[in-house]
Amino acid sequence: MCGIVAYIGPKEAYPIIIKGLQRLEYRGYDSAGVAILNGTFNLYKRKGKVSDLVDFINAKKTNGTSGIGHTRWATHGKPDDTNAHPHTSGDDNLVLVHNGIIENYAVLKRALENEGHVFKSETDTEVLVHLIQEIQTRENLPLEDAVRISLTKVIGAYAIVVMDKRDPEKLVGARKQSPLVIGIGEDEFFMASDATPIVEHTKQVVYLNDGEIAVVNRNGEMEIKTIESNKIQRPYVHQLELQIEQLEKGGYDYFMMKEIHEQPKTIGDAMRGRINADEGWIRLGGVDEYSAKMSKASRFIIAGCGTSWHAGLIGEYLLEDLARMPVEVEYASELRYRNPIINEDDVVVALSQSGETADTLAAIELAQKRNALVYGIVNVVGSSIARITDAGSYIHAGPEIGVASTKAFTGQVTLLTMMALSLAHKRGTISESYYHRLLVELENIPGKLAKVLEKAKQIEYIAREIKDANNALYLGRGYNFPVALEGALKLKEISYIHAEGYPAAEMKHGPIALIDENMPVIVICTNKSAYDKIASNVQEVKARKGMVIAIVAEGDEEISKMADYSIEIPDTEEPLTPLLSVVPLQLLSYYIAVMRGCNVDQPRNLAKSVTVE
Ligand code: G6P
Repeated sequence: MCGIVAYIGPKEAYPIIIKGLQRLEYRGYDSAGVAILNGTFNLYKRKGKVSDLVDFINAKKTNGTSGIGHTRWATHGKPDDTNAHPHTSGDDNLVLVHNGIIENYAVLKRALENEGHVFKSETDTEVLVHLIQEIQTRENLPLEDAVRISLTKVIGAYAIVVMDKRDPEKLVGARKQSPLVIGIGEDEFFMASDATPIVEHTKQVVYLNDGEIAVVNRNGEMEIKTIESNKIQRPYVHQLELQIEQLEKGGYDYFMMKEIHEQPKTIGDAMRGRINADEGWIRLGGVDEYSAKMSKASRFIIAGCGTSWHAGLIGEYLLEDLARMPVEVEYASELRYRNPIINEDDVVVALSQSGETADTLAAIELAQKRNALVYGIVNVVGSSIARITDAGSYIHAGPEIGVASTKAFTGQVTLLTMMALSLAHKRGTISESYYHRLLVELENIPGKLAKVLEKAKQIEYIAREIKDANNALYLGRGYNFPVALEGALKLKEISYIHAEGYPAAEMKHGPIALIDENMPVIVICTNKSAYDKIASNVQEVKARKGMVIAIVAEGDEEISKMADYSIEIPDTEEPLTPLLSVVPLQLLSYYIAVMRGCNVDQPRNLAKSVTVE
């Protein structure tokens, strides 16, 4: 989704802003722009990549020590040079960048047109900057007051940064439901959609809250007020733990490959200090604190979107199987608009890598209105979901830059596994010996995952065999059914091959009609409990000349003989299987996408962090 960067201070703003926009590229976008203030605004916008913008600007004038930049992911109006941000007011005194959606823009636009405003673009954002101009001129207000009053008239979600060329010493930023972070340097300030453009300049940040407006100036002063004009006395300054190396590719061609390979470490980090198999304990912040409520909950509702929803499905299997807890897994976007039955003895688990997904945030607010306990499992530290949930745990996977989620998924599953085990132990729903076996095995997972990664060459070879397919089918049962969904999603997202994930037995109710020699069928066959049933499903595919790629446990003989290709992964306890079996599927999609010439880290039309509904 859209990315914002702004700077004011003693340094040249343009290189800082361009570097910042490059850092934000991972969020997904289709055009980019900058406005640098130097008496007047030097404003440049371009459809395409930040590199296209840089080429376009080339030797044009960019000097100035304050400015704003934006990467746009189109909502209102096609991606083109005109609709790209920044947008200017009608009198060219103001420039504004925006992430979010102004829902009542059509009404506001009509009213402004009646006042004589003329619009150049099709965007909701241009309406907002004209509204600010109108209110500022009519009431002769300083920029921050005009912004504040304008925002009281707006329905929708926004993070904005505004500049006024007549008042060049300040930047004004505001947020409602879209993130905005302020970086505090030596007599300089940064504003950005997340901390990635800021971390190389300063580690001190303030996360703006919903309904807050910040003014920062060149004298190193910052003032934050609510939209009702109440001053925030001492804004909380966070210390970023993010390291700059975490934002670099570290020798890999793509972030996705780096992130796939980081998983033995990130799973280890997710468990660090939280589990001790020798001593037989799991300590998960929040779960311990609310253990009475959680153990007695009438049910768990897990909410998320995309890959996080798939992790939630695995959570359902884990919590039911181990903790004997009733679970429902919901797409956050559906949950929020139904009239769901949520009671105060329910626990809602919100899963989100970014912690900013608009639908997940809205589902949390709904659950909180119904007095349910909301537990967040989130990767991005300080994100909105991390801050509004009642309790929660970070997955500590570090920045995930590739749009296709990999290490965040296995991190989420690791946390859900620990949560299920902790509750199972407290509720006495599994035997002590099984509990200990699972703890020991969980600690072994990073080592076993490193062995899965050794299969990369073999998987690359298989990728070459199937890279030209138009369709693919992923099948799995039990714990591996959500893995099949996730494998199919990975392929779709980055290689643009149509793929579907199915419970293996359901294949007979539809997808079997599609199977022929051109259809690769990826079957995850590591389940011990349903091995014979999966073996029959593989036979059914082979009988229809489908090409079978089987993910099997080490030493497998039966299915490996039937399959065209089989990828062996280390054996493990069944509830832990997804942590290993998903990784060959991540690698398979990666190689196929690279072979098809796709931009793996920034697939078309996708956004990393979906901050609009
Ligand atoms: C987008 C991303 C996915 C992600 C989903 C949910 O679609 O491209 O990778 O799974 O949003 O995001 P979240 O940050 O809430 O996990």
